[in-house]
Amino acid sequence: MADTATPGRAGLPPRPIFPEGSSGIRTVPLGDAALLEEIRGVVSFFLPHPTETYLGMEADAYRALVLAAQEELNRRDTARRLARDRREAICEVLDSDRPLIQTNLYLRGTRPSVEGLQENIGWHRESFYGPDMDQSINFWCPVANVTADNAMRYIPDSHLIPDAEIETSSEPDESVERFSAGHKIGLLYAPKEIVSGVDLSSPKPFVVLPGEVAIFAGHLIHGAATNRSDRIRFSVDFRLIAEESLTTAKQHFASGKSYFEPL
Ligand SMILES: [Fe+2]
Repeated sequence: MADTATPGRAGLPPRPIFPEGSSGIRTVPLGDAALLEEIRGVVSFFLPHPTETYLGMEADAYRALVLAAQEELNRRDTARRLARDRREAICEVLDSDRPLIQTNLYLRGTRPSVEGLQENIGWHRESFYGPDMDQSINFWCPVANVTADNAMRYIPDSHLIPDAEIETSSEPDESVERFSAGHKIGLLYAPKEIVSGVDLSSPKPFVVLPGEVAIFAGHLIHGAATNRSDRIRFSVDFRLIAEESLTTAKQHFASGKSYFEPL
């Protein structure tokens, strides 16, 4: 079968590379299942109570709890340990033996039935929010309560749509202050909305079972994962990119380090 790749940039070969029919997603089992247990342990250490306890909490108080768990996961170098576990698949997809990894892992803790507040990220691709991200990949690992009802969704083969064809608009979100706990856990103070260029009418859920991870094109339109279940959905994610694709040095404010480091 032919491969498909995100359109190339001037002077760079097209990458990442996915087999045709894969929709820009590769699902692989983790080699070391103990990693997932450790992440679950950190989450339940900082958020030990039943979901109801967290439903009535103020946004800032809840986000501070998620941030505390995220900081502990970062202290344990969780992103690097997850990525090294699947290094071979990452190098294959990036078509590079010099993968770089985002220095900050995000813990997503999406509560059900939260209205009027940003609790999840809407439809986007990574190049909406950062330079060079057209050639990035996402590493996404479900942690708890990720089901067909509430899994992250994607638009099949949307990684093949050039940036220039997609029109967006941006509105500040009053509930997420810049540099706040909400911003540090990956919520957006100025989310972009897709206005045209992508048919959003037929999304599909990521089918990633406990113990598996998804490696997918940063250019794939994904998100919009409203939690329709009755429990908090937890997952972790971070981005990787081939060293050859990175042209912009950038600091990550949540980690205080370079945005990317060698894996
Ligand atoms: Fe994303």
